[in-house]
Parts: sequence; C-alpha cells; structure tokens
Amino acid sequence: MKSYGIIGWPLGHTMSPTLHNWGFEACGIDANYAAWPVSQDDLSSFMGQVRARPISGLSVTIPHKQAIMEHLDRISERATTVGAVNTLYWDEDQLCGENTDVIGIVAPLTNLDTLPATALVLGAGGAARAALAGFKELGIPGIAIANRTHAKAVALSEEFAVECVAWEDRMDQSWALLCNTTPLGMSGAMEDATPWDGDRFAPATIAYDIVYNPLETRFLREARAAGCTTISGLEMFLHQGLAQFRLWTGTDMDESGARTLLLNTLT
Ligand code: ATR
Repeated sequence: MKSYGIIGWPLGHTMSPTLHNWGFEACGIDANYAAWPVSQDDLSSFMGQVRARPISGLSVTIPHKQAIMEHLDRISERATTVGAVNTLYWDEDQLCGENTDVIGIVAPLTNLDTLPATALVLGAGGAARAALAGFKELGIPGIAIANRTHAKAVALSEEFAVECVAWEDRMDQSWALLCNTTPLGMSGAMEDATPWDGDRFAPATIAYDIVYNPLETRFLREARAAGCTTISGLEMFLHQGLAQFRLWTGTDMDESGARTLLLNTLT
C-alpha cells in the first residue's frame, strides 16, 4: 500500500485526508493518506523518512511551504515564481515540488466566457502570492493588489510587476475580479467581517473568496445580493487537491463526486 499525507504545524482540521482517501477508494488505488503534525524542528528528520520509506507524495501546509524547498531535487517554475511548494511528488528517483494552490486558484476561472480585464487581490500573504501568480498565468491584463499593511502590498506589487492600490482606496474603482485572500469572513471571530462594503459591489464583478468555511462568507453573500458572480474558496481547495491527486496517481478523481463529498463535509 502506498503512503501519502499532509504535514503542517499546528495541523488543525484538514479536509485533505477525506478528499484523497475518497479518491483512492473511488479509483481502486491501494493507498492511504494521513495527517502528520510535523514541527519546524522536525522537518529535516521527517524529510529523511520521506526518502527512506519512501512516502509516495505529500501535501505541505503552513509553516513549511517555503522551508521544504531546500529538501527537494527539483522545483517547478510555477512554485519558484510563488516562492512556495504545497505538493511533493516523485518523478522516478527525483523528489519534486509543485504549487497546486496556483492551479486551484486558476481552475474555476478557466471556463468563464471572457477573461476578466482587471483583478484586485485583497491581502498580501501566501494565498495572495498564489493568486497573483495564477492571475498572471491566466493572462489577466490589469492586476492590482491592496493590503492593510501597505508596505507588504508594495513589495508584492514590485515582485510580481502589478499595480498597487492603497487599502483605503480599494473601493474607489470597479474591478472585473475581486479576490479575497485575507481571513476576513472565516468562521469564528472573523465571521462577520468582510474586506468589501456590501453597497460598493459593481454588478459585473466576479467575487472570489479563498475562505471556504463558511461556504458563503459575508463577502460572497453581499456580492451575490448585488448581482455579482461568486466563486467559493471550496473550488480552490477542490482543484488544488484534484491537481495533487493527478500528480501522484496519473488519474483524475471524479470532480463532481469530490465536490459533493466536500460540500457534505462542510455542511
Ligand atoms: P496567508 O499566508 O495564509 O495568506 P497571512 O500571512 O496571515 O495568511 O495573510 C493574511 C493577510 O490578510 C495579510 O495580508 C493581512 O494583512 P496585514 O499584512 O496587514 O497583516 C490580511 N489581514 C489579516 N487580518 C486582516 C484584517 N482584520 N483586515 C485586513 N486585512 C487583514
């Protein structure tokens, strides 16, 4: 039986084992996916085990997405651009790193009738880096970033060669695509928060939230009420997982079955 899993610290609740174990069973693959809490101090020795056992593939989450890079034989161009790896897989005897967060962010935008002409990324953390890389890969011409701490937005706007908008001015213009990468709206203390005023949505906007719990954040609820198209963070989570599964097994998990599984897990 092949062994896969996710590492992170602290490794809170994650839907990845549910998704991948369902996929293995549905595809008749003899494999298991586990959740391994691995601290920063233990990362090097864990990576020794990955090579020795060997572990067939790994999902990597906070805080290891950057630190893992020095333990790999090869890193994709996409992951190099983002500066983070969330997926490890083997190519013959080479341990390779990919960033499927970018694939996950882009996937729900690829079947739109028209490519958004402008996109504003809200936030400047790791998810914002993946969004910027993804929107550039898609070829969106007018990409901008706004962040509460302006200096971080400036740094990312320079690194990715996009526009920088002051957080206070973000709602002064309309955007074809608005992408929330902040934790505003996440279940818990932030649930009632939103990065956008409900009465400032332009109806043609696509509102995309990286947050998937709750499934419909205040940001998405108010965008929908204003006539906008909305995309839930569940889509990004689903597609980054589908891309991992494809890298590991060479097989496609059934997308609609996997979406139903995740929806049932979250509700
Ligand atoms: P990740 O790396 O997972 O994307 P992160 O590094 O915690 O997460 O980044 C979260 C982003 O959300 C940051 O850009 C943060 O803004 P700051 O750079 O000013 O810290 C933003 N964020 C977090 N809480 C926020 C809030 N209450 N209002 C506005 N932005 C917030």
